[in-house]
Amino acid sequence: MMSYESDKLLSEYLLMHFGTDAQLMPWDFGPKAAIGFPTRTVSHFTNSQQEGIRALDLGCAVGRSAFEISRHADEVIGIDFSENFIAAAEHLRTQGSIDYTIQETGKTTTSATASLQSLPADIQPEKCCFRQGDAMNLPSDLGSFDQVHAANLICRLPHPEKTLERFSDLVTTGGELVLATPCTWLDEYTPADQQPDGDTFSWLKDKLSSSFKLIKETNEPFLIRETARKYQWTVSMVTVWQRL
Ligand SMILES: C[S@@+](CC[C@H](N)C(=O)[O-])C[C@H]1O[C@@H](n2cnc3c(N)ncnc32)[C@H](O)[C@@H]1O
Repeated sequence: MMSYESDKLLSEYLLMHFGTDAQLMPWDFGPKAAIGFPTRTVSHFTNSQQEGIRALDLGCAVGRSAFEISRHADEVIGIDFSENFIAAAEHLRTQGSIDYTIQETGKTTTSATASLQSLPADIQPEKCCFRQGDAMNLPSDLGSFDQVHAANLICRLPHPEKTLERFSDLVTTGGELVLATPCTWLDEYTPADQQPDGDTFSWLKDKLSSSFKLIKETNEPFLIRETARKYQWTVSMVTVWQRL
């Protein structure tokens, strides 16, 4: 499995999840609509007004979407394979902030702090917990959830079907699954025989339709800043599924 343990990726994801707009995209002519992806995906749940929501963020990285979900949920579990990402999310949850370094150009860096104080005042860190785990082999006693969020995860898994198969157990009847994927299938993450043969949307419908009703399909851009002059601008396909 390809790892997300490097300090470079930790700093890119802390910036993507917690950086200011100006830190993430300092150019006026840049694609600013791509900022805020980890909160925009959460906004696609249609059942967030319900009471007592139990939620799961699979592939949570450094935790921004989980904190966003905590604004309306009673319990949020964030699971990621990366020990480094989970340690950062847990540090943020318990200490409120974490220092990191933003890459400018070459050897030039800037010091930055990711802080929960910059998030909306109604986030509830005490309702979140972060755990290292494998989305393809989740604990059997995890229980079920009213909301499951999996953003930009499935095309990074060696066996994505294992995770898709588990969703029917993980989501309560009437509960929702928000699945975002840029469909950037790469052999180094997912062996070719485990990738969809055709288009990803048809493949998802084929795998999920026996247990879920598709209630929304849309697109969301996101931005990863590698340096002040180099960015990944990508469009994720977002589908929302209601458990039958
Ligand atoms: C492209 S990032 C997306 C992170 C975050 N959801 C977002 O949208 O910013 C993929 C994430 O999936 C995690 N991941 C990869 N394989 C995983 C697995 N088998 N189980 C759980 N998480 C995994 C990585 O560590 C990384 O945090």
